[in-house]
Amino acid sequence: MLDINTIRKDFPILDQKVNGQKLIYFDNAATSQTPNQVVDSIVDYYKRTNSNIHRGNHKLSIQATTAYEDVRKKLHKYFNSRLPQEIIFTSGTTQSINIITLGYTDLLTSKDEVIVSEMEHHSNIVPVQMLCERTGAKLNVIPMDNQGNLILKEFDKFISEKTKLVFVSHVSNALGTVNPISYIINKSHEVGAKVLIDGAQGASHFEIDFQKLDIDYYTVSAHKMCGPTGTGILYGKEELLNKLSPWHGGGEMIDEVSFEKTTYGELPHKFEPGTPNIAGVIAFGAAIEYMDNIGLDNIQAHEDELLKYCTQELKEIEGLKIYGEAKNKIAVISFNVEGIHHYDLGSLLDQFGVAVRIGHHCAQPVMNYFKIPGTVRISFSFYNTKEEIDLMIKALKRAITMLQ
Ligand code: ALA
Repeated sequence: MLDINTIRKDFPILDQKVNGQKLIYFDNAATSQTPNQVVDSIVDYYKRTNSNIHRGNHKLSIQATTAYEDVRKKLHKYFNSRLPQEIIFTSGTTQSINIITLGYTDLLTSKDEVIVSEMEHHSNIVPVQMLCERTGAKLNVIPMDNQGNLILKEFDKFISEKTKLVFVSHVSNALGTVNPISYIINKSHEVGAKVLIDGAQGASHFEIDFQKLDIDYYTVSAHKMCGPTGTGILYGKEELLNKLSPWHGGGEMIDEVSFEKTTYGELPHKFEPGTPNIAGVIAFGAAIEYMDNIGLDNIQAHEDELLKYCTQELKEIEGLKIYGEAKNKIAVISFNVEGIHHYDLGSLLDQFGVAVRIGHHCAQPVMNYFKIPGTVRISFSFYNTKEEIDLMIKALKRAITMLQ
């Protein structure tokens, strides 16, 4: 059992009024809130340590480098990668995916095929499409059913010796579906294809073991797991990352530079040109520590309870339709109310202090599947409560009455 009242003291942002109402923050899939411990780590870094890393032999630079590299080691342990250098720091999931798609530009040809799923976020569609346009590779799309599950027998039909890469999200940001990544990874490996798992919505909700799942590439955004924005990781197996060309050139990613030929540095530096987000990475380390202390099992159990309770309550409301009812889903609920535009509902909820996301959630193919322009999306974190759900349901009923 989580002591939510104590946990909430770490999040002063939650204890405020918006539009004169108590804030109910239910937009955690867009970004999670940041506890004091993480904010303090940023302030502390700038107050005491701020210095560039990997470049100086003075005290502060060495301290900053150690703190930054310690986070890499922490993430290596947390996600169980084989080596620390398999963890590449990036600005987040979008950049991580682009490093892979750009890196494969000279490895694919028009004889190759790539697979994505219909329920991907745009950041796991657009870079893949761009890769296919650059190389002529064929793009196959795994369809989904009306519960929000991927249709695996269609995936089985696509997968062949021609398949070189598969891109699939661990969890759908629009529907909450947890995808069967083990099945997809195993099937792909049978034909030698490599798989990128977009973990933007996964890593904050359950334990992930890169080696146990035999994951080739995995992407994480710190800001979805109590960390700061502008920081994340790309994980890749060492032998795979070694084969990829770097996506960007610059300082600190080289071995030797001359006008005749430049050679690149070893992992992870090859993919980390320029001055990175040092404070962000250090704060990401603090966020991982914070979540680890609470415990992912506890987080999952609490969020599951909120999901069940809220789903039941929403289903009592006439004309309300939930999109995404997969058996295996996380605490994300997308819905619409008959005859009411999602934008209007979202605006009124905001007036009542409830923060939700509205729109297509950067997943237009999902909206196209359901033939809707968008939804209202509620998404929970471990600091949310049933009392907040009760208040939200009350606000929602009031909004519906006003709009009908
Ligand atoms: N990808 C984030 C979301 O689902 C921004 O809201």
